[in-house]
Amino acid sequence: MSPASETVHVNLGDRSYDIVVAAGALAQLGALLRPQLARPFVVIVTDENVGAHHLAAAQEALEGEGISSEAIELPPGEATKSFAVLEDLCGRLLDLGVERSDMVIALGGGVIGDLTGFAAAILRRGVRFVQVPTTLLAQVDSSVGGKTAINVAQGKNLIGAFHQPSLVVADVALLDTLPRRQLLAGYAEVVKYAVLGDAAFFGWLEEHGEALIAGGSNGAPLRTEAVARSVRAKAAIVARDEREAGERALLNLGHTFGHALEAATGYSDRLLHGEGVAIGMGLALDLSAELGFADPAEAQRLRAHLRNVGLPASLADIEGPPLSADALLTHMAQDKKVTRGELNLVLARGIGEAFTQKNVAAGKIRDLLARSGATPSGN
Ligand SMILES: NC(=O)c1ccc[n+]([C@@H]2O[C@H](COP(=O)([O-])OP(=O)(O)OC[C@H]3O[C@@H](n4cnc5c(N)ncnc54)[C@H](O)[C@@H]3O)[C@@H](O)[C@H]2O)c1
Ligand SMILES: [Zn+2]
Repeated sequence: MSPASETVHVNLGDRSYDIVVAAGALAQLGALLRPQLARPFVVIVTDENVGAHHLAAAQEALEGEGISSEAIELPPGEATKSFAVLEDLCGRLLDLGVERSDMVIALGGGVIGDLTGFAAAILRRGVRFVQVPTTLLAQVDSSVGGKTAINVAQGKNLIGAFHQPSLVVADVALLDTLPRRQLLAGYAEVVKYAVLGDAAFFGWLEEHGEALIAGGSNGAPLRTEAVARSVRAKAAIVARDEREAGERALLNLGHTFGHALEAATGYSDRLLHGEGVAIGMGLALDLSAELGFADPAEAQRLRAHLRNVGLPASLADIEGPPLSADALLTHMAQDKKVTRGELNLVLARGIGEAFTQKNVAAGKIRDLLARSGATPSGN
């Protein structure tokens, strides 16, 4: 039986916090928050999509515990993670009277969490904030670990701060309103935790992934378990390496390839981040096999599962004209520092056994991309 509710503790000394995972956890927001508040008032930052579905319930949960709230609703989408919106948001938080000892709540996906977390990091030199993630990606990834950021013309997430939340409340019931494609994209990050360090979890996902995605009363406890297992994995890595001096890099499994695919498809609807990660993990396992670290069957097993649940699993699954191997390699080189035509990548000895590998020859990667369906050159 999957549990109804799980609490995962993130152990970071005086920056430690709990992640509460449950269907219906939003209703407990007021009770969970109250002991941490200096006064019974908070500001909720959300986006218009999430606000339409879940803001009233969040405010009701707070009112039930005598906590009054103001809400700021921002436009949805990646463009909201900008300096212009950050400036506007900080001004509005100050206008609403947010003081140094107050709490700000991020109710939304990774965009709202990253932006609100960064605003909290710099407002009055740092106010506390709570993550209430509403996408599967945010529940298993962006709400945990304290990375906050906005995007600039020079690239994504280049301006930001480490600022840990004081609490994370992940209500898997909120995922019922999430578009299926977004849910699947978040599921790719769940698969990532299994592939990077937990083969038993991968087996569990093979068994339960489809029911988990389908949702409903059968899916809810499975979602709770999958989110809890994912954040437990992330929390353990973050506790050992909060500022990514080493091990935290494992969380980038599939991401160097994935970011290149996102860049080559123009960060558009053609490919969501999680979809790029799904394809990228397959390529990372291919490359691992190529370099003699893993059995080629591992990549096949991963792809079979990705396809079963409805995720893209290889370059050929990306709609539109084929991408160029050279262009992808250039994006990969920009993503991670290259030294003399060699890249640092996360590879695996098999599902559940990822490791970081320095100095992978760019030529090997180019050959693999070309064999996988990218055109050898061009754009
Ligand atoms: N800080 C980190 O460690 C970290 C990690 C991974 C990703 N990120 C960041 O996260 C962002 C992506 O996050 P995301 O995938 O959650 O995207 P998102 O926040 O843009 O949400 C995706 C879409 O779903 C909508 N939505 C969200 N919750 C909903 C719900 N419950 N019902 C209906 N619609 C809902 C949103 O309005 C948006 O249109 C990127 O900016 C990325 O850089 C950060
Ligand atoms: Zn990711």
